[in-house]
Amino acid sequence: MSDAARRIEALRREIEGHNHRYHVLDAPTIPDIAYDRLVRELEALEAAHPELQSPDSPTRRVGASPVAEFAEVRHRVPMLSLSNAFADDEVETFVARIAEKVGTAEVDFSVEPKLDGLAISLLYEDGVLVRGATRGDGETGEDVTHSVRTVRSVPLRLRGDDWPRTLEVRGEVYMPRAGFEAMNAQARERGEKVFANPRNAAAGSLRQLDPKIAASRPLAFFAYSVGLVEGGALPDRHTATLAHLRAWGLPVCPEADVAVGAAGCLDYFRRIGARRDTLPYEIDGVVYKVDRYDWQQALGFVSRAPRWAIAHKYPAREEMTVLEAIDVQVGRTGAITPVARLKPVPVAGVVVTNATLHNEDQIRRLDVRVGDTVVVRRAGDVIPEVVGVVAERRPPDATPWTMPTTCPVCGSRLERGKKVARQTKAGIEYEDSAVLTCTGGLFCAAQVRERIIHFASRRAMDIEGLGDRFIEDLVEFGFVETPADLYALTLDDLLAMKRRADERDGTTPETVKKGKVASKWAENLLGAIDASRATTLERVLFALGIRDVGESTAKALARWFGSLEALAAADEAALMAVPDIGPIVAAHVVAFFAEPHNREVVERLRERGVRWPDQAPQRTAEGPLAGQTVVLTGTLSSMGRDDAKERLEALGAKAAGSVSKKTTFVVAGAEAGSKLDKANELGVPVLDEEAFLDLLRRHGAAP
Ligand code: IVH
Repeated sequence: MSDAARRIEALRREIEGHNHRYHVLDAPTIPDIAYDRLVRELEALEAAHPELQSPDSPTRRVGASPVAEFAEVRHRVPMLSLSNAFADDEVETFVARIAEKVGTAEVDFSVEPKLDGLAISLLYEDGVLVRGATRGDGETGEDVTHSVRTVRSVPLRLRGDDWPRTLEVRGEVYMPRAGFEAMNAQARERGEKVFANPRNAAAGSLRQLDPKIAASRPLAFFAYSVGLVEGGALPDRHTATLAHLRAWGLPVCPEADVAVGAAGCLDYFRRIGARRDTLPYEIDGVVYKVDRYDWQQALGFVSRAPRWAIAHKYPAREEMTVLEAIDVQVGRTGAITPVARLKPVPVAGVVVTNATLHNEDQIRRLDVRVGDTVVVRRAGDVIPEVVGVVAERRPPDATPWTMPTTCPVCGSRLERGKKVARQTKAGIEYEDSAVLTCTGGLFCAAQVRERIIHFASRRAMDIEGLGDRFIEDLVEFGFVETPADLYALTLDDLLAMKRRADERDGTTPETVKKGKVASKWAENLLGAIDASRATTLERVLFALGIRDVGESTAKALARWFGSLEALAAADEAALMAVPDIGPIVAAHVVAFFAEPHNREVVERLRERGVRWPDQAPQRTAEGPLAGQTVVLTGTLSSMGRDDAKERLEALGAKAAGSVSKKTTFVVAGAEAGSKLDKANELGVPVLDEEAFLDLLRRHGAAP
């Protein structure tokens, strides 16, 4: 072997290792820039030695040229579908039937989230990915190898060497929620087509003739079973197969677990259901599969679905309802958002009455009219949105809607907002976005109000009892114009505000109703405002509402600079030295402190007694647990997970989401699941709650 061939082989292995750690284990070990350097070196070597090219090289994910049409793929082992259960008793019946057939009630099930994406078959020959196909009708699917290869978490080559010569892995290609939201937000800003949900986005991205499209989309893969297996054997249980797939470098959903009997399955359904909104991907149910293959075989199939598995579904994320009106809202930065007022409809357990329509372009694209029956989607923490119109149900008098040309609150002219077009070394280039913005700035009561609502909110200054209503009235009657004005309010101001609000609303003044205690609420509110004076730098930074400075960015900035003065004096280069701060956030921070009005607000806050301790700038991880990576799993009885995470971080440890060889230790609370198994599998030390508390105690960080 030549030197070049040896180096190419070594680079491929190394890059594959990094891909696996990054995309499958979620635990990268080198910075992006070092990774890019390896890829560039490999690309250069392969270009110089075309004879050493190989289709399974990590440089070749996007290498394929567009296909003219999708070739047909016959599934030698058919890809089945699942029967559904919607209620507990259907699950009980399903389990009882199995228990009867196999002769014991203690049936183990592999329990897994039902991912909402696109079913895919991956064929590995001698450990190399040779074909990716859609399910199609279960017998015949479409060849989407060119697209599947671009999915970063699909290994092009399996790890280890104990896999069957021919191995067909089945699973779901999906789009993680964050990637979906970001991709749609970007498309919306540009006035381009958006996808209604992550499933359509995943399917639409993969079923493309040009692989560049799939490559540009944030797709991911989880394996959940095997199809054809030749030249090798698999274990005798499904969960053991999943463990093998993991070891071969295939991503398996970390929530996959084992449950016993109907009670265990239903418990799993509820546990996952409670976390459905916060999982990083969309699921529409959970799947229960009899774990033992011999029992699966004995149970067999009915038509197209196995008797040994069932999908237990959660309430749908999408519902239909009538759009009664469209209003516009003015946000804290002046962005104008059209909001759909809906006939109330329950969506996945929450009654929805308002949904965002995002912007004018979106309304035009959907051709939404007042009176239409629309499809509303509510997923996770994101605001419910209108994703479609049911054309057949349009009443003849449905009226098209047009955006106002002036701000409905202050009457100022609206203009197209700016968005980042490009980031170059020379700076950031902006272009018009699809979002209209009120030009009223501080003159616009809505912007003033939204900024103060944000300032007072729980995660910012946390002024208890200062609700949105109060803030609206305080702004409307001119008591407050900037956040600093909150700290100059007197008892008389609050009572005067209340009197004027009562007059406006024609309500009976509290003084008449309650006599002497009338000012109690005002005293409490002043107390809460006073209590918020003693705060932290990170809270103030977040509360100020600097564009794109969310909680975690505020925290990073506070830690790095230690004081507001140091931050305000930093230029863009100094800001970009902070981990995770890019040119855009840096530009927003610089612009914020360049604005005299903003500096004045900060000064007034100080004058009026708001104070936060400065701290020594912390530019590297420090603390007794610096350099350690900890994974929390299960439920702790003595503290919440966020609390535990903060305590670990305060000691310098990094809290990670998944277990890998790099994990220093795992903290396992009650009902710890697959992460605990993984830790045991990898030999990572595990601390139970008592040992964890002990560790915290030793470092003075116990609750
Ligand atoms: S098992 C015979 N496991 O659900 C077993 N399917 O209606 C068939 N799905 O098309 C599939 N997550 O796309 C299985 N953990 C999971 C799944 C899952 C999602 C999808 C799959 C299939 C459909 C079945």
